[in-house]
Amino acid sequence: MIDNEKVLFSGMQATGNLTLGNYLGALKNWVKLSDEYLCFYSVVDLHSITVRQDPAELRKRARALLTLYIAAGIDPFKACIYFQSHVSGHAELSWILNCFTYMGELNRMTQFKDKSAKHADNINAGLFTYPVLMAADILLYQADVVPVGVDQMQHLELTRDIAQRFNGIFGDIFTIPEAYIGKQGAKIMSLQDPSKKMSKSDENPNASIYLMDDTDTIMRKCKRAVTDSLAVVAYSDDQPGVKNLIDIYSSCTNKTPAEVEKEFEGKGYGDFKMAVGESVVSVLKPLQDRYYELSKDKAYIDKVIKENAEKADYYAQKTLRKVKKKVGFPEVPRI
Ligand code: TRP
Repeated sequence: MIDNEKVLFSGMQATGNLTLGNYLGALKNWVKLSDEYLCFYSVVDLHSITVRQDPAELRKRARALLTLYIAAGIDPFKACIYFQSHVSGHAELSWILNCFTYMGELNRMTQFKDKSAKHADNINAGLFTYPVLMAADILLYQADVVPVGVDQMQHLELTRDIAQRFNGIFGDIFTIPEAYIGKQGAKIMSLQDPSKKMSKSDENPNASIYLMDDTDTIMRKCKRAVTDSLAVVAYSDDQPGVKNLIDIYSSCTNKTPAEVEKEFEGKGYGDFKMAVGESVVSVLKPLQDRYYELSKDKAYIDKVIKENAEKADYYAQKTLRKVKKKVGFPEVPRI
């Protein structure tokens, strides 16, 4: 580790199919961020079992997501991409932090309320303490920054509270993490209802472009995207559907919204949607090709998984040793 190098942590769940929104809003930035920070990008499989999963499916998806991180352009021997379940420190620290987190704090988490409404038949304790595991993820690596979407801000705030509380009792143990604010990725909305975020759990398959959609599907979904009757390609809040398509097009082509407006001046939505579709294909097709190529190379992916788990564990243990000592656990005798 380079001296003074700042640490960044983020994670994604291997549930649902990743969408263009996940790519343009997060993954694409992760690639850039790995030049500036020591990055830990975890496939957070411990989090996934807070709702029922099919084991074979979870295993497959977890590996697919890790492969996708690489296909998106993250160098796996620079950034540390690994499975959360391969580093036991996450679960250990999570337990300890549970004892420094109040029921009242967890009761206020809006995601817990949403998820328990959605999974009323399985409101398990893991779902309740989910944010503590997330805090453990972040604090275990002494992360300085955490790129998260607005939906995870409350969890990050809680992480800071827990860390400050712990430090207040035991001294400076944890780095207090900040939300990463810099050039944020575009927030991509649903193609069918531009007031909602594009989501991997949307029931309407036309609402989201999945990273693995083929060319025809991408083109068809773009053509069917909801717009309006104003018939002008303008970046305006009065035209949320068109605005979203402009965001997609500008992210995929690295053009500014103003440049896009100009490019389509006097042109109809038909032409515009076609261009949006093509720009998405031009980004996703190479990513898919790399993904399929990488998936065939079992030995390489295995090596990434194993070496990075060891690397992550090395950093995790450094923190965990300090924490265990501070809370008063007996040391393992060195004999
Ligand atoms: N809870 C996050 C989500 O569902 C995933 C996650 C788990 C995470 N641990 C994290 C994100 C730590 C950032 C940092 O999106």
